[in-house]
Amino acid sequence: MFVASSAPPPPDPLSLPLMEARNRACLSFPVLVFFVLIFVSNEANLSAATNSILTGQSFSGNQTIVSEDGTFELGFFTPGNSRKFYIGIWYKKLPKQTVIWVANREKFISNTTSSEFKLTQDRNLVLLNQSKTPIWSSNSSSPTSSNRTEAVLLNNGNLVLRDMSNTSVIFWQSFDHPTDTFVPESWIGMNKVTGEYQSLTSWKNSEDPAPGYFSDSIDSGGTSEFFLRWNQSEIYWRSGTWNGEYFTGAPVLPEMRRTTIINVLYIDNEQRRYATCTLKNNATITRQVLDVSGQIKQWVWLDKNQDWLLFWSEPDAQCDVYSLCGPFGICDSKSIPYCSCLQGFEPASMADWELNDYSSGCVRRSTLKCGKNSSDGFLTISNMKLPSNSHSLDAQSSDDCSSACLNDCSCTAYAYGNGCFIWKGELLNLQQLYGDGDSTTLYLRVSASDIQNTKGKSRALPIILSVVGAVILSCILVGLAWRVRRSRMIRKGKLVEGSLVAYSYAELQHITRNFSEKLGRGGFGSVFRGSVPGSSDVAVKRLEELRQGDKQFIAEVSTLGAIQHVNLIRLCGFCSEGSKRLLVYEYMPNGSLASHLFGGNHKIINWKTRYQIMLGIARGLYYLHEKCRECIIHCDIKPENILLDSELCPKVSDFGLAKLMGRDFSRVLTTLKGTIGYLAPEWIRGLPITTKADVYSFGMMALELISGRRNSEQFNDGNISFFPLFAATKVAEGDVLSLIDKNLEDNVETEELTRMCRLACWCIQDSETYRPSMGHIVQVLEGGLEVNIPPVPQSLLALMEDREQYWYEESSLSSTN
Ligand SMILES: *[C@@H]1O[C@H](CO)[C@@H](O)[C@H](O)[C@H]1NC(C)=O
Ligand SMILES: *[C@@H]1O[C@H](CO)[C@@H](O)[C@H](O)[C@H]1NC(C)=O
Ligand SMILES: *[C@@H]1O[C@H](CO)[C@@H](O)[C@H](O)[C@H]1NC(C)=O
Ligand SMILES: *[C@@H]1O[C@H](CO)[C@@H](O)[C@H](O)[C@H]1NC(C)=O
Ligand SMILES: *[C@@H]1O[C@H](CO)[C@@H](O)[C@H](O)[C@H]1NC(C)=O
Ligand SMILES: *[C@@H]1O[C@H](CO)[C@@H](O)[C@H](O)[C@H]1NC(C)=O
Repeated sequence: MFVASSAPPPPDPLSLPLMEARNRACLSFPVLVFFVLIFVSNEANLSAATNSILTGQSFSGNQTIVSEDGTFELGFFTPGNSRKFYIGIWYKKLPKQTVIWVANREKFISNTTSSEFKLTQDRNLVLLNQSKTPIWSSNSSSPTSSNRTEAVLLNNGNLVLRDMSNTSVIFWQSFDHPTDTFVPESWIGMNKVTGEYQSLTSWKNSEDPAPGYFSDSIDSGGTSEFFLRWNQSEIYWRSGTWNGEYFTGAPVLPEMRRTTIINVLYIDNEQRRYATCTLKNNATITRQVLDVSGQIKQWVWLDKNQDWLLFWSEPDAQCDVYSLCGPFGICDSKSIPYCSCLQGFEPASMADWELNDYSSGCVRRSTLKCGKNSSDGFLTISNMKLPSNSHSLDAQSSDDCSSACLNDCSCTAYAYGNGCFIWKGELLNLQQLYGDGDSTTLYLRVSASDIQNTKGKSRALPIILSVVGAVILSCILVGLAWRVRRSRMIRKGKLVEGSLVAYSYAELQHITRNFSEKLGRGGFGSVFRGSVPGSSDVAVKRLEELRQGDKQFIAEVSTLGAIQHVNLIRLCGFCSEGSKRLLVYEYMPNGSLASHLFGGNHKIINWKTRYQIMLGIARGLYYLHEKCRECIIHCDIKPENILLDSELCPKVSDFGLAKLMGRDFSRVLTTLKGTIGYLAPEWIRGLPITTKADVYSFGMMALELISGRRNSEQFNDGNISFFPLFAATKVAEGDVLSLIDKNLEDNVETEELTRMCRLACWCIQDSETYRPSMGHIVQVLEGGLEVNIPPVPQSLLALMEDREQYWYEESSLSSTN
């Protein structure tokens, strides 16, 4: 019935402009200049802007050589704020220092004026430090009788050592020795003749190019598969093998992103087997980097923003990187930075942690006491993804398991669930989970003093309380006097954290006229309109089922109050009184997007406005995901949570509730009618979620904005229609016009419609890897990036055969009310 092509479109006819062709092309550099230089300045410093170094020449200080087309530059650089100098190649035209290759990555120099980068008489590139000792050498062996050699920086960023009389004779090239970056026309793989591998190795940290723990290299067993490894051993991501068109592994490199800017190729010939890529459009500037975070990231330069845009990264979930947070570190996908230490532990090296290098992990604050009557105890750490290297023990109860661990000096933690498991030595790959799914509790062994410390706090509490009490008492006295005065003035709370107002419950009762005008009801409470004399109206949300303590609530709320973006609803105040928790937001006169699309009594929103609404929502979410101090996953994107101001400018509301509600959030959400159709599959399966869960919901909502109707509808005859399947199929067939809201009477921009439809279908892919990031979505909607035809998501296809899949059923039912 539906014919869906889930295979990626074939790459462009292979126009292989690989190394040989490229090198020949670069021959055209004015030969005359060389001759002049040879006669005038052999054995001298470089004199003018050039793209090459000749035998005997050297440079130092801030001299550089520049590729013929001005793209790349080679010279001394210092990473970040360090005072260490390295020889590197970077993009000359970009305002942000972006280094693609480093020569002396392991040994830095501290003075460039007396150091020299030189092409020696024996045809080697060497770096001499201030005492003229070589600290790096290309180690190139040049056979033949060739006696005129040049080192040329090519337009593709390759530094090549070659024979001037026959430039296809290459002794050495930087592309054979990549550092952490893969640029178009470079390669990673292996040389069958020399047995050398071309692998990417991450920097040690953001200021040190020395080899870090992560590497990307081809399978030494001879297949075409690439592996990301930790410490040259543990594989934590696989590319899959090459099938002639793309690397097939699960997860596959996201086709949407892969094929829009580059053609990836795998070549296996007599000399080498390697992967390389060519640009689709040679104006694009892009690079792949094996980041300090252990992820391989594709970046694209956007002229408009004057910044790099993250195109995709693998593995998609940062916490899947092996040992990212080191021993006894916890990886938490919902917070930035991702790594923190277990209780009772502290970073082994604060200096490294500050440079995003967590590999040293955490160390105990106080040592364990071992022996027959160890005084050690256990801290309970809930919702953990446990390390895999456990030892299973035969223990009948949790207590038995606990004492088995105590009696074993090397035991550092235990878990008791489907049996007793203990861990010995360092704990690696701990991950914070969310949701009740298969949450597991880890009992971490700590010294008695660390347990005392937690108890000590509670013993100190009475003292703190009495001090606090005294302070509060005086506050109350002052407050009373103030209150009397204030009650005659405009009713307004007191300011905390900049613009956030702390209201009393009585004040909010007054503002909302005792909660008389109800604006709506969501999963976490009802919203009421309130008016503050002399200022604009507010919406007051009364949170239900919130069990969070006062202090933590205020801390979370202050964080949310600091978030300001034109496409995010502004939190103006809150109330935390006894068990009552309320949030005060700016009031949006135009209600929610849901009421406009499905309410029936509103004017039809025209296409231009719909497109702008989509873009606005994407910008708001992009801000939440990537621009806030702490990354916020919204978790509940749906048309009900998009409010419109008087100009129909969209404002995302209810963000940050996931964190406020904690564990209750997922329980409430999954039981909430009308929400489940927007939830990503991984959400429903209780797996860890990332920002891509929001992307999924965004895609579902985009489809509703396009069609002007709910994604699921149940007709009177009991038949259920599920629009996303229809939409994905039509998009795959290239027929987007049939998806448009009939009310628009075809008054649409076809190009925008195509873009938005394809994008929506990429967003609702089953695999998070396939879904674009919010930053990417913004770029596509702004017209800065092209987007390919997406495959029909497998789960939607499966739905045709199996309509019982509960999340669709749920969402279908919810559409009837
Ligand atoms: C060059 O050879 C020397 C001596 O064998 C070695 O120490 C050095 O690491 C080599 N340099 C490079 C860049 O391979
Ligand atoms: C290159 O070397 C050959 C002999 O090895 C010599 O005859 C010739 O003059 C040299 N050319 C230059 C330019 O030095
Ligand atoms: C240059 O070197 C290549 C490879 O060694 C050889 O095939 C070619 O004939 C040489 N060209 C000239 C002009 O000598
Ligand atoms: C990394 O591997 C090396 C060599 O196998 C080993 O000596 C070293 O201990 C490993 N590092 C860590 C942190 O495990
Ligand atoms: C870029 O591509 C265009 C068309 O494909 C070609 O004419 C142009 O020469 C290329 N520019 C460079 C620098 O390769
Ligand atoms: C073990 O406990 C006994 C008595 O409770 C105490 O005298 C002894 O010092 C303890 N041994 C160790 C190694 O702590």
